[in-house]
Amino acid sequence: MTAPVQISLEVNGERVDVHVRPRLNLADFLREHLALTGTHVGCEHGVCGACTVRVNGDIVRSCLMLAVQAQSASIETIEGLSDSGEIADLQAAFRDRNALQCGFCTPGMLMVAQDLLKLEAEPDRDRIREHLSGNYCRCTGYQAIIDAVEATARARRGPKA
Ligand code: FES
Ligand code: FES
Repeated sequence: MTAPVQISLEVNGERVDVHVRPRLNLADFLREHLALTGTHVGCEHGVCGACTVRVNGDIVRSCLMLAVQAQSASIETIEGLSDSGEIADLQAAFRDRNALQCGFCTPGMLMVAQDLLKLEAEPDRDRIREHLSGNYCRCTGYQAIIDAVEATARARRGPKA
């Protein structure tokens, strides 16, 4: 059995020092060591997007990254974005438009949608669809999700002068 490796990183603004199995992926680390179960695990192959987190500000599929590769990194999960209020309007738009059913894809969808809205103020529906295209939803048919992201972008721009 391979010896555990010590890592130090920041998760949702809190410093974490812990020993992990060398082959533990980041998604399982967040769930098993820190009980951050909002990071979902679907395919475990980088396909579905359910495990999306931010690493040093960039969107990453945490099932494809080892926890030891997060040494010294700043990780943000759906719990961090939610608790900070950063995505409160986006979450409200998802709720108001029934953009979630079982909710399994929702944390990843919110992470990726927020990523787009930080990059672009006026994404059209095709652009939203393209940016979210790596995140799978088995329930909604996607239209309500696109509606929610579009409405949030519009609201963030505010009334036209
Ligand atoms: Fe990571 Fe599906 S669980 S992309
Ligand atoms: Fe069920 Fe998207 S709401 S997978």
